[in-house]
Amino acid sequence: MSIHSEAKRITTRTLVDMKKAGEKISMLTAYDYSMARIVDEAGVDIILVGDSASNVMAGHETTLPITLDQMIYHASSVVRAIHRSLVVVDLPFGSYQGDSKFALHSAIRIMKESGAHAVKLEGGKEVKESISRILSAGIPVMGHLGLTPQSIYKFGTYTVRAKEEEEAEALVRDAMLLEKVGCFAIVLEKIPATLAKEVADSVSIPIIGIGAGGGVDGQVLVIHDMLGITHEFHPRFLRRYSSLYNEMKGAIENYVADVRSKDFPNEKEQY
Ligand code: KIV
Repeated sequence: MSIHSEAKRITTRTLVDMKKAGEKISMLTAYDYSMARIVDEAGVDIILVGDSASNVMAGHETTLPITLDQMIYHASSVVRAIHRSLVVVDLPFGSYQGDSKFALHSAIRIMKESGAHAVKLEGGKEVKESISRILSAGIPVMGHLGLTPQSIYKFGTYTVRAKEEEEAEALVRDAMLLEKVGCFAIVLEKIPATLAKEVADSVSIPIIGIGAGGGVDGQVLVIHDMLGITHEFHPRFLRRYSSLYNEMKGAIENYVADVRSKDFPNEKEQY
């Protein structure tokens, strides 16, 4: 029987078993109760309360401004909605780099105050101490390598990472380090598909890709992008499953027209 057919809660263990069984893992972002309910009921394995909330919920240009308190608010709303998915929460910029004690404190706050199941953070060897300390408290950690948006001002561009040999080799080393330290999975963002497959084949923990091709163990997308709520963003890796921007705008325009024309409310829609 497939792991998928059971309505059991997804755990970090389930994900490793899925990789072993060759079953692909689905992951989507969600930041609020109503969206998370739909995502959970649709059978998504991992819900990521991503710091992309900074962009799609708050309208910031980058993920850097979002705070730990704001991430905890989003995460607790998501946790209240779910029955099956594993909920992973991004540690926001400034909450884990350079000070492993502070990193542990941030991760504990997320777990205690939101009820989420795991945290995610960006980077390799430079955040090793933070990862180890968080893991020492029994908190599962997901890594994130490649195009790590919290470092956008270092990169200066959102283009594909690790195309050059030196950066590709460093990425492979970092992935192996993250596995050795004890991360339960790694997100690889916007890197060549061949490199992502090489990483997925060399580690036993699941590799979840975004713009990293089909040779990895699972896929993640930002829900506002795949539903077409954001409509001005067209990276090659993005498949749109709906055009909700247009559908929602059309519905709202109809409502405005009905109010103006006095068609709404009608006799049946009043007391
Ligand atoms: O914050 C986010 O949505 C993410 C995904 C792009 C992986 O980190």
